[in-house]
Amino acid sequence: MKKIGILFVILTLVGSIAVVAAQFSIYDWWTAGGEKQAITTELNYFHQLYPEIRIVQNPVAGGAGVNMQAAIKSLIFAGLPPTTFQVHAGWEMYQYASAKLLDPITNLWQSEGWTKVFPKRIQELCSYNGKFYAVPMDIHRANMLWYNVSIFKKLGLKVPTTFQGLMNTMKKIKAAGYTPLAVGDRNQWPAAMVFEEGLLALSGPKTYDDFFEGKVNYSNSKVQEALKDFRYIMENYTNENHASLTWDGACGLVAKGKAAMTIMGDWANGYFIALGMKPNVDYGAIAVPGSQGVYNIVIDAFPVPVGLKGAAKDYAYDWLKTIATVKGQAIFNQLKGSIPARTDVPTTGFNVVQVNNMKELKTDVLVSSAVHGSEAPAPFVTAWENALTVVQYHPSMSIEQAVNYLNAVNSRYLTPQKLVH
Ligand code: BGC
Repeated sequence: MKKIGILFVILTLVGSIAVVAAQFSIYDWWTAGGEKQAITTELNYFHQLYPEIRIVQNPVAGGAGVNMQAAIKSLIFAGLPPTTFQVHAGWEMYQYASAKLLDPITNLWQSEGWTKVFPKRIQELCSYNGKFYAVPMDIHRANMLWYNVSIFKKLGLKVPTTFQGLMNTMKKIKAAGYTPLAVGDRNQWPAAMVFEEGLLALSGPKTYDDFFEGKVNYSNSKVQEALKDFRYIMENYTNENHASLTWDGACGLVAKGKAAMTIMGDWANGYFIALGMKPNVDYGAIAVPGSQGVYNIVIDAFPVPVGLKGAAKDYAYDWLKTIATVKGQAIFNQLKGSIPARTDVPTTGFNVVQVNNMKELKTDVLVSSAVHGSEAPAPFVTAWENALTVVQYHPSMSIEQAVNYLNAVNSRYLTPQKLVH
């Protein structure tokens, strides 16, 4: 009787280990409107294809991964990696690859023929030291301006085409009693986007890349202009409660007609789609004025952590294969507001903002976003965003003081370097 009891305990333990080993555990930060629907749809599709795999989704709220990235680092460093996790291609992914925390997946890229369907630049951002480490799920565009069509009509406003024009439009909107630019920088990064996209629009892609490669700093006249405009916008043209809202809260102000515009990546498109709003009818979308012809890319990708046990590695591969299919890319991106990373996905089912972005990606100059992990190393990005917050909240700091302070932060954290490994 005693032996049977022990045997039962052992079998139960083995059984529960088997259950643990047989699950697919995924971390992401897609919890807001649009992004949540997109990942749910993709996971349902994965379940249809692989009904035997038990899916455990771990969504960690906090746009741009502010909270999830900390969680994932602790898990990985503790030797407890999930089956896969959301990561920005580029520098954010390099930090794991260079620390040997990811399994190279070059063989998978080759056997699946992915080098033929994903653009070269995306392939570079998904690889490190000549090996592939992740599969892209989407291509987002960071340099976008979203506006409320009714407010623009009511005030008889034309859509601006230069950054100076945007500043003038904000002045007019404020004079008419509306909040010109909704910002939700509770998590800091949406304010940094106002600077980043302004920098791109005012200085162009070459100086933008030079800035994040540590070759130019705030002493450059165009960078300084972007800094001045950033401080002016944050102090004069944003909603009073910007520091307590998140990015989707800011989009909500535009949706409700409480603010005229917001600068945000095209996950905002997904947010408006989820509300049932129609592009060009309820909301307008353009490249941030002055940055037409440049595509500031943000790539969400999924890697395979080292040390996966049992069937977990197969499950990770099954997931990567699923998100890389034409259907997997279509159903996710249609809801996410972004465009597929594959170049051969038909435009059916995408809205005009997306179809236009698909066209522009082919001809635009490509840069990538520092705020969203691709363009610069994480320690710099954190220090840079903190420093921008300091000058944002100290309007009494003269421009000379701000420039000296910010230059010191840049030179401490950003040694001149190459963009892509
Ligand atoms: C991600 C997007 C996400 C956005 C807001 C960005 O960093 O790339 O996929 O929708 O953050 O959470």
